[in-house]
Amino acid sequence: MTTIADVLYTANQRLQEAGVDTAALDAELLLAHALQVDRTWVLAHENELLPSELIARFDELVARRAAREPLAYLTGQRWFFDFQLRVTPDVLVPRPETEELVERALHWLRAISHALVADVGTGSGAIALAVAKHAPSVHVYATDISVKALRVAHENAERLGLTSAITFLHGDLLTPLPQPVDLILANLPYVAEVERAHLMPEVGEYEPPEALFSGPEGLDHIVRLLDQAPSYVRQGGCIILEIGDKQGAKVARMAQRQFPGAAVNIYRDLAGLERFVEIDGIESH
Ligand SMILES: C[S@@+](CC[C@H](N)C(=O)[O-])C[C@H]1O[C@@H](n2cnc3c(N)ncnc32)[C@H](O)[C@@H]1O
Repeated sequence: MTTIADVLYTANQRLQEAGVDTAALDAELLLAHALQVDRTWVLAHENELLPSELIARFDELVARRAAREPLAYLTGQRWFFDFQLRVTPDVLVPRPETEELVERALHWLRAISHALVADVGTGSGAIALAVAKHAPSVHVYATDISVKALRVAHENAERLGLTSAITFLHGDLLTPLPQPVDLILANLPYVAEVERAHLMPEVGEYEPPEALFSGPEGLDHIVRLLDQAPSYVRQGGCIILEIGDKQGAKVARMAQRQFPGAAVNIYRDLAGLERFVEIDGIESH
């Protein structure tokens, strides 16, 4: 007879051997997913026996995780900010540092009501949804080059009851926007092609390449966004970019050249890494 404690022990060993940092936690979350309960329930019922078909389903999930498939693709969900997002292999798994970009955006938005916001490269819709949820007077344009990602983002908006606050637009960077906006938010691809070989398997082998890579230095998307931006920002507007931790100085220099009258600042994330460039007080052309 096999108990919950037994299968968790074996799965933990297997995931540790595969190099998964959070082996015990992942095993618990995968079992909770297979049982359609939450993790607390799993931990409170360790002596319960499991039927063999359930064990087989769980083993299959553990095997995929041991092959380093991201946990969020296996469970189909991920917490972001204060809500659950559905994620699929068509979208980047939203990262905790992107929640800090949302905090910065909400802080900036406190000063204006009925602002227009753009979330460029929306992916799962994470940024657009968090901003629409917490700054209710805004309207958000969420763009992506990937039709499949837009489909996931739209579904998330439907589930969260936020479709009327967000317009989803297909196309390249800012070009699908129907009008200039007050605030541009962008977590665009920023990994350099040369880093491809050094990425964790979860990222390099499973996440969509078009969500990750951006030319030889990882800056192609940001350079093009800054080129397009003057026609798409309103007077006094702001751009907040998420960047790679070694790109701060370069991006800030480019931003200052493009917007000489604006205040350009680099901010660190909670891990202490340079992660955001904010270009505020933009003078529109
Ligand atoms: C790093 S992911 C970020 C996804 C989401 N914003 C987040 O923070 O989790 C970058 C996103 O930009 C999209 N993207 C890539 N190139 C683009 C382009 N030229 N125009 C618009 N979106 C683009 C990708 O499809 C992907 O969804």
